[in-house]
This record gives sequence, structure tokens and C-alpha cells, in this order.
Amino acid sequence: MVEGVIDRCPTGIAGFDKLCQGGFVRNSDNLIVGGPGSGKSTFLLQFLWTGATRFNENGLYCSFEPDIVDTLNDAMTYGWDFSKLSEEGKIKFMRFAPQTSIEDLKDELTKMISKNEIRRICFDPISVLALSLNDKGKIRETIFELSALMKRLKVTTVFVDESLEGDMGTSNDGDWTKTDILRFLSDSVTIFYESGIAGVGDRAVRVAKMRRTAHERKAVGMKIGDRGIEVIENPSVIT
Ligand SMILES: Nc1ncnc2c1ncn2[C@@H]1O[C@H](COP(=O)(O)OP(=O)(O)OP(=O)(O)O)[C@@H](O)[C@H]1O
Ligand SMILES: [Mg+2]
Repeated sequence: MVEGVIDRCPTGIAGFDKLCQGGFVRNSDNLIVGGPGSGKSTFLLQFLWTGATRFNENGLYCSFEPDIVDTLNDAMTYGWDFSKLSEEGKIKFMRFAPQTSIEDLKDELTKMISKNEIRRICFDPISVLALSLNDKGKIRETIFELSALMKRLKVTTVFVDESLEGDMGTSNDGDWTKTDILRFLSDSVTIFYESGIAGVGDRAVRVAKMRRTAHERKAVGMKIGDRGIEVIENPSVIT
């Protein structure tokens, strides 16, 4: 595929953007899947931080976790102090109860996105919202409605899904979890591993799917350090 034809939304994580022709497809919806502590929330915070500080794109972090203060404290450990950006309206944080109806969610998001000219939005973890719905059909409809709204509002979306097995297609008994449907609906799926299956580094990342993109398909080494996520571009220089 010819590079440069598709408008990209760079994550700003250099090694990651190189895996996928420069970043996510602009205005697409993207799924991050991984186990506990694999770096999912760090990726979202880094995506929003770099979006605002380097690319002048406003962002919105939607949390379904009980306490958003924890998330802000996590960000501080990487040197990302969101308080000023938040006051300036460049990055907003919203907390939703898992039972929030799709209508209320859509209303509140539409208002916030229009008011603050949001270009990047993250949902962490969307699986909480999905699990509060009982029926797989309802989950599909809800996620689809949410993604469609984000595309209409021209924002690039990142959803987080929690997963113990990590990889795609490993369940062979047809007993998919409730949120596996997200992997089919999303324009891209990236899997984070908290151990170094790529043979370098102590963690790994794999872009399993990205529509309209000739992406790297192998797992690649990754580190989390004082300044967030680093995808290892050249294994021979790993320290
Ligand atoms: N300053 C730091 N330097 C190095 N590694 C760090 C630092 N801060 C956090 N980590 C690592 O990042 C991990 C947490 O990453 P993160 O919160 O992004 O994971 P997650 O996938 O969102 O997890 P969960 O599913 O529990 O929400 C920690 O378990 C730790 O290993
Ligand atoms: Mg998290």
C-alpha cells in the first residue's frame, strides 16, 4: 500500500508508528487488548499526552474505573502532568458508571467533543461497559453505535479490552468471551503482552489487524520506563 495516501493519527510512540505506516488511520476506531499490567492505560495516556503536546490535538479520556485520580497519579509517574492541559480544555477526563445508558453516553460525549474540539478519545476499559450488558447482541449494537458516533464526530478512538489470553483466535471451543466481538468490529487490534515473547525486552506488542494498513504482523519488543512506552525498533541496541 502506498504510504502517505491515508491520513494518519500518529500515536507519537515512534516505534509503534513505524509498525503501522505512521499511526492509526484518522477517525478510525482501534482496540488495545492485553492482560493486567501490560501497558494498556499507559498507551492511552501517552497517546493523549503526545496528541496535545506535540500534535496540538485535543483529547478525551473516558474511564469506567471507579477512581480517575489513580489514573492521573499513574500519569504523573511518567512526568505527564495533565492538570494544566485539563484547565486549558486540551485534555478532558470523564468518568462513567458501568451502567450508563448508551443514550446518556452519546449525549455527554457529543457535548464534550463539540465544546472542546476533541480529536482523540479513549475508553478505558470498554469491557466494563460491555459486561454490564447481558446480551452479546446488545453489546455489539452499543459498541457499534458508539464507534459510529465517534466517526461522525471525526475523532480517532482507542478502546481498551481486558483479556487474559492476550492473543487473537486462541479460543478454539467457540466459547468467546462477551467482548471478543470488539475485535471484529474495530478497525485495528493491537495486543500488549506483559512478558517478552518477541525475544527482546521484557514486554511485547503486536499489531494483529489494521484496516487500510500494511502493518508489521510480528510481535515486537517493548519497554515501559520513566517516560512511558518505548517500542524497540532495533533489538541490537536494547539496553
Ligand atoms: N515509572 C514506571 N517505570 C517503569 N514501569 C512502570 C512505571 N510505572 C508503571 N510501570 C509498569 O506499568 C505497569 C502498569 O501499566 P498499565 O497501568 O498501563 O497497565 P494496564 O494494562 O492498564 O493494566 P490494568 O489491566 O491493570 O489496568 C505496571 O504494572 C508496571 O509494570
Ligand atoms: Mg489500565
